[in-house]
Amino acid sequence: MSNNTISVTRAENGLRGTITIPGDKSISHRVAILGALAQGSMQVSNYLCSEDCLNTLRAMQQLGAEITPTDVPQNFTLTGTAMHPVAPAKDIDCGNSGTGMRLMAGVLAALPFVSRMYGDPSLSSRPMKRIIDPLEQMGAHISACGQKPGCAPLLIEGGKLNPVHYKLPMASAQVKSAVLLAGMLTEGTCSVHQPAITRDHTERLFAHFGVPCRVSADGLDIEIDGPVVPQAKDIIVPGDISSAAFWIVAASIVPGSEIHLRHVGLNPTRDAIITVLRRMGADITISNEQLEGEPYGDITVRTAQKLQGTTVLKHEIPNLIDEIPVLAIAAAFAEGDTVIRNAAELRVKESDRIATTVGNLRAMGATVQEFEDGLVVTGGAPLHGAVLDSYHDHRIAMGFLMAGLHADGETTLLNCANINTSYPGFEVHLRLLTH
Ligand code: S3P
Repeated sequence: MSNNTISVTRAENGLRGTITIPGDKSISHRVAILGALAQGSMQVSNYLCSEDCLNTLRAMQQLGAEITPTDVPQNFTLTGTAMHPVAPAKDIDCGNSGTGMRLMAGVLAALPFVSRMYGDPSLSSRPMKRIIDPLEQMGAHISACGQKPGCAPLLIEGGKLNPVHYKLPMASAQVKSAVLLAGMLTEGTCSVHQPAITRDHTERLFAHFGVPCRVSADGLDIEIDGPVVPQAKDIIVPGDISSAAFWIVAASIVPGSEIHLRHVGLNPTRDAIITVLRRMGADITISNEQLEGEPYGDITVRTAQKLQGTTVLKHEIPNLIDEIPVLAIAAAFAEGDTVIRNAAELRVKESDRIATTVGNLRAMGATVQEFEDGLVVTGGAPLHGAVLDSYHDHRIAMGFLMAGLHADGETTLLNCANINTSYPGFEVHLRLLTH
């Protein structure tokens, strides 16, 4: 196994064992950003030391946040700048991370200096207009300088912004958070209206760091009165349910499995993968549930007796958007059709996840229909191993390795170094659970 190519064969003995899932990616980015702006020092525990989140942490160091020890293991002390960051001495590298770039844009647009953010080829082809539009409505000056129109690198001439009342055209937690972070730095009341509920980590972290924000009863409208300085407070990042999802699906489909996943985030805006898999017949038990700003708990998964296709509801899509590739793999082993529509956002992720999921499922022998906004998987036929490209997309790589654990022959994923963007230690967990 090289870092870039990973091969698996059928997991003859099932998946068995106990693992602790690494920290949540979405929460880690936000902790770094809010901690860097905060007044005071805080202990951060279980930060996700993946490429994406380390890039955001390095960016915050460029803005003047202090991190000790400096080699950044998952536990460290973060000392903020009390809303007085310094201009970065060099361009900010966001690597592969849309979340890092879009959230930081909200902050940098409101700060009194010029900055420039860039990313890898995948990030440089992802749409940034979605955050530029609302931030420009606030008076920001952002130029998308990429070869592709509306794409990174972003040149930001920061300065004082005006409040905005912004109606999001798409259900995106990144856009919502970019506006709310800009609002935190802006005098007056900023509000966002989202067309559907999206992950609410920013709102929960605002509460944790003493930044007042109001959320309407239906969860669709959020208001913030700025400027307000976050107050540093120790935090433990729960495990990432999006990473747990790979093992949940693998253990559900591979006969003879029983796995235990510890300390997994169970935020209700992120847990639809569990709801939908249970609806399909998965055997998933949750225990030791706790709430510390974010809910989390332990998950036990045993092989499902039988999986049945389902229709993913429109409102469930933003809640499991990152889990759709691996859900489609579960669907390939379920009886009947699984319908996943209203998910056009998948086309602008790290890869075009509709095209890459459909292509790879077909290469393994599955029956799939592709739509502009999703896919329909007709499950039940056995899959065979294949040599597949992950298209430099971490979730495609990990998802199809799960499929390979219940396929005939060998499954090889090419170009999967990007697994490190979200799941350092993935191969160790793979070996541990399959031996
Ligand atoms: C994220 C939001 C989602 C998700 C991404 C992380 C976040 O993106 O796909 O992996 O942390 O806010 P969108 O906001 O573009 O839907």
